[in-house]
Amino acid sequence: MKIGTRILHTGNEVDPATGAVSLPIYNAATFQQAGVDGFGPYDYSRSGNPTREALEAIIASLEGGVRGFAFSSGMAAISSILLLFSPGDHIVAGEDVYGGAYRVLTQLFNRLGIETTFVDFTDPETVRRAIRDNTKALYLESPSNPLLKITDLRVMAALAREKGLLSIIDNTFMTPYLQRPIEYGFDIVLHSATKYLGGHSDLLAGLAVAASAELGDRIKFIQNAFGAVLGPQDCWLLMRGIKTLKARMDMHQQGASRIAAWLQRRPEVKEVFFPGLPGHPGREIHERQADGPGGIVSFRLQTEEMTKRFLGQVRIPALAVSLGGVESIISYPVTMSHAAMHPDHRRRVGVTGDLVRLSVGIEDPDDLIADLDAALGQA
Ligand SMILES: Cc1ncc(COP(=O)(O)O)c(C=O)c1O
Repeated sequence: MKIGTRILHTGNEVDPATGAVSLPIYNAATFQQAGVDGFGPYDYSRSGNPTREALEAIIASLEGGVRGFAFSSGMAAISSILLLFSPGDHIVAGEDVYGGAYRVLTQLFNRLGIETTFVDFTDPETVRRAIRDNTKALYLESPSNPLLKITDLRVMAALAREKGLLSIIDNTFMTPYLQRPIEYGFDIVLHSATKYLGGHSDLLAGLAVAASAELGDRIKFIQNAFGAVLGPQDCWLLMRGIKTLKARMDMHQQGASRIAAWLQRRPEVKEVFFPGLPGHPGREIHERQADGPGGIVSFRLQTEEMTKRFLGQVRIPALAVSLGGVESIISYPVTMSHAAMHPDHRRRVGVTGDLVRLSVGIEDPDDLIADLDAALGQA
């Protein structure tokens, strides 16, 4: 079955006890046991909850992994995975990853003795040169956030394997509907499910998928020991969101493709970043490894002043942090998603005051274009 069908039919979408096609929300914190020597399948919801397990099985199946994990936010998923590492370990990460991932690596895990080098993952030789004797993992996003740079997933997974490293990818921008990195050899896939998987800007959630049973056991230990699990109500909400993933992503990308092409023709716009545009560096690689360009368009206006005026005039998209909701969201990475990055680092990677990131929602693209047109006219 194709992924668009599997989103609705992974085999875990029906309640085995009753046949209900919407899985029940098991709000129980604890589970009565038959006796001190005979435990049932569940004992305590941090360790395992039937609603969470259904969601975890669904994401594992969609990503083509062996085991899934649900966390209380995307950052909880990322941080829990980083707990696989120990003092003295070194990670090579993409230089324009999400600002929160940069923050946790440079302000928290560094204090625990885990060092990170940030490099441009579009060039495999640069990544290879950054690997040291104590390097334990490659950590990346493709497309990256917010400049939508493309990394060759097959090449990175092979490099990680050659050097004995874990390959970890944040697949938030693509979702498994458009890109399944485990098929290219990745070990761990992460999501801020707050974004496209949830899809309605109404929940915070994170997911991780392990490609092997051995890694799955190690992550299961961390999930239970560290305890940043997703509650059953939010697990249900996320499963409900995932059901419409195909329909929403198809609309997001249709709208984004039109808007990116339209922005490119505007004199106020200096540069447009969208993997579906002819001439986007990495477009060929992206088309080989993903089934569509996604719904995020970033662009630069001629000046920072124009950019700020423009953002003050836009009416339909919410000026907000986040992305991937049914409603369009426009953001200013310098003070929002990437505020936690050191200003020098931001400048070096091109996250500057003229940059806008637009998460194209499922509104009628004609109305979005008319709104952007009016705002650009007043910028
Ligand atoms: C690509 C990416 N990864 C991770 C995160 C963090 O997820 P959360 O906000 O759910 O903790 C975000 C949030 O914006 C993101 O955009």
